[in-house]
Amino acid sequence: MSHPRRVTASPVLQLTGITKTYPTRPPVTALAGVDLTVQMGERLAVVGRSGSGKSTLLNILGLLDECSSGRYELAGSDTSTMSAAERDRLRAERFGFVFQDSHVLGHRTVAENIALKLAITRTPLRERPARITEVLEKVGLDHRREALGRLLSGGERQRVAIARAVVSDPDLLLADEPTGNLDADSSTAVLDVFDLLARRGTTVVVITHDRRIAGWADRALILDGGRLVADHAA
Ligand SMILES: Nc1ncnc2c1ncn2[C@@H]1O[C@H](COP(=O)(O)OP(=O)(O)OP(=O)(O)O)[C@@H](O)[C@H]1O
Ligand SMILES: [Mg+2]
Repeated sequence: MSHPRRVTASPVLQLTGITKTYPTRPPVTALAGVDLTVQMGERLAVVGRSGSGKSTLLNILGLLDECSSGRYELAGSDTSTMSAAERDRLRAERFGFVFQDSHVLGHRTVAENIALKLAITRTPLRERPARITEVLEKVGLDHRREALGRLLSGGERQRVAIARAVVSDPDLLLADEPTGNLDADSSTAVLDVFDLLARRGTTVVVITHDRRIAGWADRALILDGGRLVADHAA
């Protein structure tokens, strides 16, 4: 699946000596000094065994959690100097998240779940129905548009979460095991959606145990015990 890349020379994400220690008893060091530079439009896979720090890294990249030490720059800005409001705004308007557990609202329909993201990003009202239709067609769920979230299968819920994350054309897409519940065809559809975004300049970071995704990415990182033990072009 090769295509012309829109990777720029300026790094969009720059991590220097990032550590994260959870203040539990005893404390757990989930990240033990991570250095990482990611360019705009890059497709990155993060692999590693359970407990190696993958979700912790994603939470830090997504400004959902703060590191214990080190420096995290986003498009040249030091994130530690950002106000809480600025971080919230970036998260809501510029990032797309697909969490390990999909977080789809059960009492809202598929279309409503996705519309919420378009409301947050202040997409003009008249554009919303077409955007929802377009993204649902891409993930193969247009026929479930009016179904309630709680009545969906696990794989359908996961695709709603993906549709919601990508519908607003985020600058940074962070996905934690996005194809964990999906069959091969649905996984391919999801990878195609990610490709489309990356071609438009979205930086895509995907945590995965799926070899296909690791092979699809431009780069694969391997985390082990909170350290990056490998970083290679896939
Ligand atoms: N909120 C927390 N408080 C305390 N310890 C935590 C917390 N979150 C994660 N940990 C611990 O930090 C380590 C890294 O966890 P993390 O969730 O990043 O791993 P992971 O690579 O995503 O694993 P998995 O593949 O199972 O999802 C683990 O030892 C975990 O138990
Ligand atoms: Mg995890």
